Amino acid sequence: AGTGPLAGRRALVTSGPTHEPIDPVRFIANRSSGKQGHAIASALAALGAEVTLVSGPVTLPDPPGVTTVHVESAEAMLAACRAALPVDVAVCAAAVADWRVADAADQKRKKQPGQDTMALTLTQNPDILATLSRPGEGRPMLVVGFAAETERVIEQAREKRDRKGCDWILANDVSATSGTFGGDANTVHLITADGEDAWPVLSKAEVGQRLAARIAETLGGEA
Ligand code: PMT
Repeated sequence: AGTGPLAGRRALVTSGPTHEPIDPVRFIANRSSGKQGHAIASALAALGAEVTLVSGPVTLPDPPGVTTVHVESAEAMLAACRAALPVDVAVCAAAVADWRVADAADQKRKKQPGQDTMALTLTQNPDILATLSRPGEGRPMLVVGFAAETERVIEQAREKRDRKGCDWILANDVSATSGTFGGDANTVHLITADGEDAWPVLSKAEVGQRLAARIAETLGGEA
C-alpha cells in the first residue's frame, strides 16, 4: 500500500486519444499525446493513491507505480473504466472521439474506378465522463473532467460541467496557437461548484501535481 495523503484511495484516470477504425488499416484519431493524463496518474500515485490509467494509443511509457490498461476505441475505453470501478476519484483527461464509423469495414476499403468522393456515416460514441458522473451507487466521490475548447473557453467549460454532471472541470484552451495538444505546457482554469480558479501557465507535470494536491485536500486518506 502507498503512503501519502491519498493512501488507501483508488483513482481512475483516462488519457490519450482514441482510435476509431474505418477499416483494418485506417482510423479516425486526434492530436492528444497522453502527456497530461499520464502526468495526472503519476501525480496521484506519488501521493499514495492506487491508480488505474486507461490509455488510448500513445508513444509514452507506462508510468511507474500505476496500473496501465491499453485500449484503442472509445467503447473499449468505457469498458476498461467500468472494470476499474469502484474508485474514489475519476479524472477524464482523454480526448475521446465523439464519433465512430457506423459500418467499419472488415476488409480494406478500395477506391472504385471513377470514384471522386467517399462518405463515412458516424455514430455517437458513449460519453465516459457523463457515464461515470451519473448519480447512483458506485459513483466516484469526485469526478473531474476537462473541457477542451477553442473559443469562449470558460463559458463553454461551465456549460459542459453542468451538462456532463461532473464535480470539477478543467477548462483547457486548445486553439491552434495554444500548443496544448502534444506540448509540455498547459493553461487551465479549475471550475467547481463554488467558483473558478485561474492557474498560471504550468508544465503538464505541474498541472498534475496541483490537481492531485487539490484532490488530496478534498478527499484525504481512506476514512
Ligand atoms: O494529451 P495531451 O497532448 O497532453 O493534451 C491534453 C489534452 C488537451 C488532451 C487534455 O488536457 C484535455 O483537454 N483533455 C480533454 C479533451 C477532450 O476531448 O475534451 P472535450 O471537451 O471534447 O470533452 C470533455 C470531457 O468529456 C473530457 O473530460 C473528455 O475526456 C470527456 N469525454 C468526451 C467525449 C466522450 N465520448 N467521452 C468522454 O469521457
